[in-house]
Amino acid sequence: MLFLQITLLAVLLAAGGNEDAFREQISFHMIHISSFHNHSWAQNLGSGWLSELQILGWNSNSGSLIFLRPWSKGNFNNKEMTEIEKFFRMLHIKLPPLIRNHASEWKFEYPFEVQITGGCELHPGEGKAVFLQFAYQGVELLNFQNNSWLPSSKGDSRAQDMCGLLNQHHVANKITQRLLRDTCPRYLLGLFDAGKADLQRKVKPEAWLSTASNPGPDRQMLVCHVSGFHPKPIWVKWMRGEQVQQRTQQSGILPNADGTWYLQVFLQVEATETSGLYCRVRHSSLGGQDIILYLERHRSSRGWIIVAVMVPLVLLTALAFGLRKRW
Ligand SMILES: *[C@@H]1O[C@H](CO)[C@@H](O)[C@H](O)[C@H]1NC(C)=O
Ligand SMILES: *[C@@H]1O[C@H](CO)[C@@H](O)[C@H](O)[C@H]1NC(C)=O
Repeated sequence: MLFLQITLLAVLLAAGGNEDAFREQISFHMIHISSFHNHSWAQNLGSGWLSELQILGWNSNSGSLIFLRPWSKGNFNNKEMTEIEKFFRMLHIKLPPLIRNHASEWKFEYPFEVQITGGCELHPGEGKAVFLQFAYQGVELLNFQNNSWLPSSKGDSRAQDMCGLLNQHHVANKITQRLLRDTCPRYLLGLFDAGKADLQRKVKPEAWLSTASNPGPDRQMLVCHVSGFHPKPIWVKWMRGEQVQQRTQQSGILPNADGTWYLQVFLQVEATETSGLYCRVRHSSLGGQDIILYLERHRSSRGWIIVAVMVPLVLLTALAFGLRKRW
C-alpha cells in the first residue's frame, strides 16, 4: 500500500506540472453485460476501461481479451494478463448458467439484462478505492466488500438470497478480492504510464451553429455543436456580451468513434431576441483562445474592416506611384 502510494506519487511527479489532467483520480474498470433474451439465449459483452477510454474488448468466440490499444497490457506480462482474462472468462462462462438456473426464484423476467462492473481508483494523496457491483435492469442489487457480497439496499430479500448463494463460493471470492485490491491497482499504474500520451493528447474542438423553429414560429431553438475534442472537460455557453445566458442547456458529452467527444448546447429564445447572441467554447486544447461563434454573421462589420484596410492601402500605393512619376 505504501509502496503503491510512493509509486503513484513518483508517476504524478514525473507527469510534471503538466496541467491539471493528472491531479484528478484515475481508474480502471471492467464492465460485463449479459442480455438474456429467453430461457435458452443470452448474449455477453465485456470491456475494460482506463478512466473514459476503452482499452479492452472481449471475443466471445475465442474466450479471450481484445487489446484495443498498443499499450493495453500496461506493464503486465502475458502471465499477469491471463489472471485478468480468467476473471472475464469466469463471468462469461459461469455467470449466465447460474443466473438462468435461479432466474425464476429471483424473479428475473425475460428479457432482462444484468451488469457487473468493478475495478479500482487511485486518488492522488488519498490512496485507492476498489468497487464491484451487480445490477439487474440497471439497478444495483449487490456490491462486493471485503471478500463477500452484500445487498446494496438493506431489507431486499431477493438480494439477500443472491448473496447467500454467491458467498458460498469462497475461493472465487478470495480471487476476486485479490484481483481488486492487488492486481487492479498495479495494472492501473502500468496502464497510466504506458497510455499517458493517449490520455494527455489534446485535440481542438470544431464548433458550428444551427437553429430550429421547433418550439413554435415565434420561438427559436439555437444549437451550438462542438465536436472532436479531447480531453473530455469542456465549457460551452450561449452568451450575450459578458452575460452567460442562464437558460443554456447541455446534452451529455458523447463519445465519437475515434475517442474524441461531442456535445450540443441549446438555448430557446424568442425569434426577436437573437441579436448579439454567441456561443463560446473554452477547452484546454485552445490555449486560452476561446472559440466564439456569433449567431448573426457580422458580414457588414467584416466588410467595413476590409474597406478600412483597403482604402489606406490604395491611397498609399497611389501616392507611391505619384511620387515615382514626379521623380
Ligand atoms: C430465443 O431468442 C432467440 C433470439 O431472439 C430466438 O432465435 C430463439 O428462437 C428463442 N428461443 C426460444 C425457445 O424462444
Ligand atoms: C474485513 O474482514 C476482515 C476479516 O474477516 C476483518 O478483520 C476486517 O475488519 C474487515 N474489514 C472491513 C473494512 O470490513
